[in-house]
Amino acid sequence: MIQDILNKQNKSQTASSANFPVARPRRLRLSPQIRSMVRETQLSPDDFIYPMFVAHGRRLQQEISSMPGVFQWSPDLLPGEIESIAKLGIPAVVLFGVPEHKDPVGEENFAPDGIVQQAVRAIKKAVPEMVVITDVCLCEYTDHGHCGLLNTGDGKRLHPHLPEGYVLNDETLDVLSRVAVSHAEAGADIVAPSGMIDGMVSAIRIGLDEAGFEHLPILSYSTKYASAFYGPFREAAQGAPRFGDRKSHQMDPANVREALRETALDVAEGADMLMVKPALSYLDVIRLVRENFPELPLAAYNVSGEYAMVKAAAANGWLDEPRVVLEILTSIKRAGADLILTYHAKDAARWLK
Ligand code: PBG
Repeated sequence: MIQDILNKQNKSQTASSANFPVARPRRLRLSPQIRSMVRETQLSPDDFIYPMFVAHGRRLQQEISSMPGVFQWSPDLLPGEIESIAKLGIPAVVLFGVPEHKDPVGEENFAPDGIVQQAVRAIKKAVPEMVVITDVCLCEYTDHGHCGLLNTGDGKRLHPHLPEGYVLNDETLDVLSRVAVSHAEAGADIVAPSGMIDGMVSAIRIGLDEAGFEHLPILSYSTKYASAFYGPFREAAQGAPRFGDRKSHQMDPANVREALRETALDVAEGADMLMVKPALSYLDVIRLVRENFPELPLAAYNVSGEYAMVKAAAANGWLDEPRVVLEILTSIKRAGADLILTYHAKDAARWLK
């Protein structure tokens, strides 16, 4: 009986794929050494950018409840933390600021003594070789929590033809440019505009060049979706919109051809590096951008909600955290990302050793 089945199978397989039994892919899976020799994707701590939240205060290391293992840090504690990040072989961090107070424009965003500016100086003083990237957006700094200036005013709207509360485009560009220059003056190595405001890369490029920072690269959040996976981040950075959503500027999760248009515009405006965000539900987008813009480095953001899901399942004993995390990060790299912004960076770097 069994022999019958085997004979039949052999026959039909020989008919459909003439290669068997000559071709046996399992030969290359025989030992860990052979598997490692033929591995197509190598993950390394060099690929990671570690996102960090910085807040005012002293000796502050406040854990984010929906992101176990991720903290808000006050500047005085940054040197020690950055040293341990550097020791793990992680070359870069990206900073998000939690300001002291908020207003309609977000003044602290470009204040010389703003929280991000303080943090950049503290990090560059302690570990000069750490690459410091700053997120350039308004949402953490504005009292309304939106990524730009709003179409409001005393009794009359700035733009009569646009809805009340609309995120204004060109007015916001001036603020973004000021923020980027202020981060550069504090010592940032790369600025990363994340607001999906049309023309943001161009405005920042012009601002930086005029201020003498023509050497400073822009990592553009070039393809950023209006995603529910940012939920925990909004707790961490206290940047949730007070009303409404971000759908008038961030991309519709249903769209992919539009990613090519967004990316092409940012490339034309002078972006030095590109990004797709989030990562996991958008691996197809990462692949598409990688194939269509092969000449530029591509980053992918493994966002807060993606992190929180893994941590929650691991805490329940439902997933093997190290294996799942390395599989996820490998898949993002395999899809075409050169760099991964991930809250798992420190753990993953340890597990890779
Ligand atoms: C905006 C910004 C957000 C994230 C990074 N930059 C939030 C948003 O667009 O609403 C989300 C990152 C994450 O979820 O980990 N400054």
